[in-house]
Amino acid sequence: MSEVVLDVRNMSVALGPHLAVKEISYQIHAGEILGVVGESGCGKSLTSLAVMGLLDKKLALSGEILFAGENLVGMSEKRYQHIRGEGIGMIFQEPMTALNPVVTVGEQVSEMFLVHEGVSKAEAMNRAIEMLRQVHIPYPEKRAKAFPHELSGGMRQRVMIAMALACKPKVLIADEPTTALDVTVQAQVLDLLEELRETTGTAIQFISHSLGVVSQISDRVMVMYAGQVVEIADVNDIFDNPQHPYTQALLDTIPRVGVDIKRLPAIPGSVPPLDQRGDNYTFRDRCPELFDHYTQLAKQRNEQMVRGY
Ligand SMILES: Nc1ncnc2c1ncn2[C@@H]1O[C@H](COP(=O)(O)OP(=O)(O)OP(=O)(O)O)[C@@H](O)[C@H]1O
Ligand SMILES: [Mg+2]
Repeated sequence: MSEVVLDVRNMSVALGPHLAVKEISYQIHAGEILGVVGESGCGKSLTSLAVMGLLDKKLALSGEILFAGENLVGMSEKRYQHIRGEGIGMIFQEPMTALNPVVTVGEQVSEMFLVHEGVSKAEAMNRAIEMLRQVHIPYPEKRAKAFPHELSGGMRQRVMIAMALACKPKVLIADEPTTALDVTVQAQVLDLLEELRETTGTAIQFISHSLGVVSQISDRVMVMYAGQVVEIADVNDIFDNPQHPYTQALLDTIPRVGVDIKRLPAIPGSVPPLDQRGDNYTFRDRCPELFDHYTQLAKQRNEQMVRGY
């Protein structure tokens, strides 16, 4: 496999005595799309904010985050600002909160070139228009003069992607970038991310609570439950031979051809708040019957595979 660009080792995020992210380890390779999936409260956003150095001050980070051989944990804010522009970019679920409402989108994208590359204002604007073109915004010269509220949700997300990719980061973290969009626009943004991975070689950590969405775009999938990584595997293996009961439970909630949509089971309950998890809390504590049922299924499947039928 290609070079490792991001290497997270035993990373934890604690809120007082409670671990919101619990000793997780994962790697992202150059040019790959790693999907991160799990229900609300599983720690997906905290994982990405930790990597970006943007965690709330009241949360304590430990472990190692190696980027290009450098440990980002404990790094100075000044150095981090440099990494955030040129090393790791991030896009969020709702671009309206990340964009400045009173500055044109062209100026906001060109700011990236002004700050990180020190080019002239005119040159920065030309580069910004090029970036808007690259993310398939129609009439980029004209749209560059628009304010964020004058664009649709899908177009605003494209502007965010243009900003994040302006400095050619090695890794792009996309935290639920399509959740607020309707299904057609969502599909267009997924296509765009895939295309940009091909053309720029940027690796993408793509986060969603939906395994269906994650599987459309990812090479590998990391499944999180209550702050822990329960499974990381190739996307095909996740579908064909899921190992962890939680992965299997998530899979059974995805509508698939030939399966009656009305009969799709939901996973009972929800991920408990941090202070109600207990030290060794797992998915088994939430749904013991489901846990045992899926554990048995995985065992049978693996026995069949060993026997070869
Ligand atoms: N700033 C914070 N202070 C205290 N607790 C937090 C903070 N941010 C997140 N948490 C808690 O940490 C846990 C993980 O949160 P996180 O936002 O990472 O979940 P998520 O997987 O991104 O969920 P969602 O799908 O809802 O975005 C949750 O229990 C959440 O309430
Ligand atoms: Mg989140």
